[in-house]
Parts: sequence; C-alpha cells; structure tokens
Amino acid sequence: MNETLNEGKVGDLITKKALKAYSQIENTRLRELVEGLIRHLHAFVRETKLSDKEFETAWTLMEEMAKFTGEERNEFLLLCDVIGVSQLVEALNHVRPQSAAGFALVGPFFRANSPQKKRGESIVSDDTKGDRVRITGRVYDLTSKEPIAGAVLDVWQAATNGLYENQDKNQPDYNLRGRFRTDDAGTFELEALLPTPYPVPTDGPVGELMRLAKRQPNRPAHIHFIVSAPNYETFVTQVFRKGDDIIDEDPVFTADRNLIGDFRKDNGQYRLQYDFQLNPGVSTMPKAPIP
Ligand code: BEZ
Ligand code: FE
Repeated sequence: MNETLNEGKVGDLITKKALKAYSQIENTRLRELVEGLIRHLHAFVRETKLSDKEFETAWTLMEEMAKFTGEERNEFLLLCDVIGVSQLVEALNHVRPQSAAGFALVGPFFRANSPQKKRGESIVSDDTKGDRVRITGRVYDLTSKEPIAGAVLDVWQAATNGLYENQDKNQPDYNLRGRFRTDDAGTFELEALLPTPYPVPTDGPVGELMRLAKRQPNRPAHIHFIVSAPNYETFVTQVFRKGDDIIDEDPVFTADRNLIGDFRKDNGQYRLQYDFQLNPGVSTMPKAPIP
C-alpha cells in the first residue's frame, strides 16, 4: 500500500473496491439496492468512526436477535418497526391525501384465512372481556368516489389483556379476527372489541434498546384492517382512538392524524363510523408471518 495514503483515502479505496465487487449483479434493481447498502453502511462506519468493540457489539446483537426470531416472531422486523423504517416504507410507497385514511405497517400478528363473517356479525367471542364497538362505514374509489361493492375487509385486533389470539392459549382460535364484505352501496358493518393499548414484545434485544432510550412500549389502542378488491391496490391500515393519550408515542411511529377514528359512546354502546378509500391498481395481499 502507498505509505503516503491517509486514513480517508484508504477508506475510500475499500468502498470503491467493495462497490466494484458487486457491480456485476445483472438484476438492475438488486444491484442498485446492494450498492446503496454498501455506500450507506460505509458512510455510517466513517461518520460514527465505529470502533472494533462497537462492531463486535453490533454483530453479537444480531446473533442475539436471531435467537428471538422464528415463525411467530421476527426480531429484525421488530427492530425496523421501532426505529421507524417499516412505517417509512409504507408512507413513501403509498402517498395519499390527508383527507384519506393512511397506510400503516401490517405488524407481526396478521393471520391469513380468518373466518368469513356476515354483515353485522361480531369478531369477539362471548367470553372475551371488554366493551364492544359497532363499526360502520363505506369503501369507495379514492379517485372517482364511487362505492366499491364486494370489497373485503380483513379485521384483527388484540384482546384487552394485550394479546392477540395466537399469543394466548386462553382465547379461541381466530378470536378477534374476521373478514367482511361490502354491499352494493360499498357499505359494511361489524362488531369489534373497543381497542385498548398493548406493548410490543420487549423480552428481546429490541426491548432492551427501547429501555435504553426510555421509550414507553405500548402501542396506542388500534384495530387493524386490510381492505382489498379486484383492480384496487390492497390497503393496509390501522384505526386509532381519538383522544388516546399515547397517540404521539406509538413505539412503531404508525399512529398519525389520518388514521384516527372517533369512537363515540351513544346510549351505552360504542360506535365508530369510518370510511376506507382504495386506489385503482393491483390487488396484493401482504405476507402472513404466521400461517
Ligand atoms: C401490531 O400492531 O400488531 C404491531 C406492530 C408492530 C410491532 C408489534 C406489534
Ligand atoms: Fe396491533
């Protein structure tokens, strides 16, 4: 090596060599992603002057995260959630007017093939504790405002003990999950549980990071929806409760003003009126982390 090279030049040479080493990837998009990753990670090492010890901590941490990763949990995805990457991907890929409901990350607790329900039916088993909420609304075309008949709303939520049915052996299979269809006027009706806050998993390295940052772990109360129809972009969203006092402290940065529903109590019954807007496009369902 040229003895006159300074630290910066050595670094630049390594970055150049690493980029060249991956320049033969034929798939243009994959090449762009790998090169971007190399450029940004090298810049991170430079900017933070990452030490040997810190580098070792980083890969040991990943080893630890792998131990908390399996079919029912992905600690790497959870890390992306709590540092805002997952919601950033949603927001940048689905720019919508603030007048329309916004996209939200799907989260780790979605299950495919939830029970198909009739209009007005409940997703809550009789023995589930908590208040019920009657939800009504409309699904319509974001551009033409025309109602969308036959759209499917896939709904899921946690129980008041903070657990989704597949985390809790005391709940019936597929409790608090269901699929509903809109009628010819694009309207739907269902009964759900009045949502309450619950914590993201904090028993792994991600929980430790959150404690170091003094972040509170509870997600504001919400209900998940995936709304789909042929020839429309599948809409993944969550509806939060107006007035929830941790709405600005969502550990995964999803709760936002265009995802807030007004859950009103009326003659002893909670009600929510909420509309979903679909963009013309290709219908796709997100990968279900749990089969
Ligand atoms: C959820 O809303 O189900 C969720 C999202 C991200 C991390 C953990 C839970
Ligand atoms: Fe959730």
